[in-house]
Amino acid sequence: MLKTMDLNYNYEDGKVALKNINIDLNNGDKIGIVGSNGAGKTTLFLNLIGYLKPRKGQVLFNDQKIKYNKKFLRSLRKEVGIVFQEADKQIFYSNTYDDIAFALRNLKYDEDIIKRKVDDVIKLLNIEEFKDKPVHFLSHGEKKRVAIAGVLALDCKMIFFDEPLAGLDPKMSENMLNTMNDIVEKGKKTVVSSHDMDFIYEYCDYVYVLNKGEIIDEGIPSEIFLNDDTLKRANLKEPWLVKIYKNLETPLFKNEKEFYEFKK
Ligand SMILES: Nc1ncnc2c1ncn2[C@@H]1O[C@H](COP(=O)(O)OP(=O)(O)O)[C@@H](O)[C@H]1O
Ligand SMILES: [Mg+2]
Repeated sequence: MLKTMDLNYNYEDGKVALKNINIDLNNGDKIGIVGSNGAGKTTLFLNLIGYLKPRKGQVLFNDQKIKYNKKFLRSLRKEVGIVFQEADKQIFYSNTYDDIAFALRNLKYDEDIIKRKVDDVIKLLNIEEFKDKPVHFLSHGEKKRVAIAGVLALDCKMIFFDEPLAGLDPKMSENMLNTMNDIVEKGKKTVVSSHDMDFIYEYCDYVYVLNKGEIIDEGIPSEIFLNDDTLKRANLKEPWLVKIYKNLETPLFKNEKEFYEFKK
């Protein structure tokens, strides 16, 4: 659905943020873009969803070069959504209901269809309790759920999550992981950025490693995370399950559950 061809991006001040990026988001349903702070993850996401325009190279949407006009971008927005790292960037309205409805209203859906879609996602994400609450009274984790609801209401085929676990406590992180898994089970694709290697290792089915604006490696998590050289170059930590595999000579487990089942 989304691909890039030799994508390059530099900011106004001349900072080169992305260099010759070639990625194909058809490579999985749970794609991870990993890299340390400043590697270019957010910049890449913004290019992929058409918010930023590459200086060189392109983004292809369904094999067509993205055109940066209203009509094309509207068709892209209907299929591709993003949950920003800072929920505040995504909050437009004072109460939860109107906030979730915002993008649907922008896309000029009828108000009765909007109501049905908004009520559906409110139920799905279990946020009935703050439906009529002012968004600015909600906690960071709650705001994040409202932001996700707004994106899910659009029924996008692909959703980007920029650092989805940042600022969440362990319980909320687990909820977020479950929500993302549910989204994929419903047949949607997710693309996540993170520097949390435990999370990426467990969640993703395909990973791109970004370092200083360049993709230095790509592949399935077990390949990427067993490659010390890649982790070192990108300044990333080994996932705990990989550490156990290397130090205890056990099989390579995909998640905590598999590990405990093996121990029994
Ligand atoms: N608006 C901007 N103007 C200039 N440089 C920027 C801007 N936004 C980000 N950068 C720089 O671009 C690089 C990539 O940033 P970013 O995409 O935010 O990385 P990440 O999301 O991986 O932390 C960093 O060096 C950052 O300082
Ligand atoms: Mg970022």
